[in-house]
Amino acid sequence: MRQPLVAGNWKMNGSKADAADLVNGIKAGAGNIRKAEVALCPPFPYLPIVENLLAGSSIRWGSQDVSSETDGAFTGQVSARMIHEFGCTYAIIGHSERRMFNAESDATIAKKYQQALAVGLTPILCVGESLEEREHGKTEEVVARHLDAVLEGIGAEAIGSGVIAYEPVWAIGTGVTATPEQAQEVHAFLRQRIAAKSQAHADAVRILYGGSMKPGNAMELIGQGDIDGGLIGGAALKASDFLAICAAA
Ligand code: G3H
Repeated sequence: MRQPLVAGNWKMNGSKADAADLVNGIKAGAGNIRKAEVALCPPFPYLPIVENLLAGSSIRWGSQDVSSETDGAFTGQVSARMIHEFGCTYAIIGHSERRMFNAESDATIAKKYQQALAVGLTPILCVGESLEEREHGKTEEVVARHLDAVLEGIGAEAIGSGVIAYEPVWAIGTGVTATPEQAQEVHAFLRQRIAAKSQAHADAVRILYGGSMKPGNAMELIGQGDIDGGLIGGAALKASDFLAICAAA
């Protein structure tokens, strides 16, 4: 059985004080979480705050990105090794906002994935189609391309060591969620694609759904056979909402 994972992606929100309040609020309510593993992904500068507050708790934390390079003259970038120093378990890789606003290619994302694995971080690889791509019937083609950049480039074992997040771009921050059936269909497709290389890794890998997941729709989404948790944006910024999703998983 795959343990559900609920990861909060705070994106570029909040202040130092907000970060501490949010972590403390989540810690205080974590007693009601039965099954799910929980992770928080704050902006880089708040990682030490999160690390200090979560030390000794079962809640994990991670970054929202890593550099595709190991070290050197890459102004403004943060390496996987640096992130690992702050006790991170996870690193989100290839979020659609980075693909869109930072022009990240599949090749760059595959390098980032490899960098994360190399230092012992668990990458959370984001894949997902735009509304236009869905309307043109290209959903499977797009998510296959996103997945294959890692699967073909690095191998099934690399995918098996990570987490995948299916995030339809049209559902991110829009309040429009994929229906459980729409999401399950894509999750099953992704798992079958991995199974073609390795059944064992396909069975083990957790595939999260992301895109306007809320307390009101989390249980039905996560109840689908191939949906193993959520990557939460907006609802991760309010402790009570985030906790309700974690409890539903
Ligand atoms: O990484 C998280 C996703 O982009 C989902 O964001 O829950 O605000 O739609 P959202």
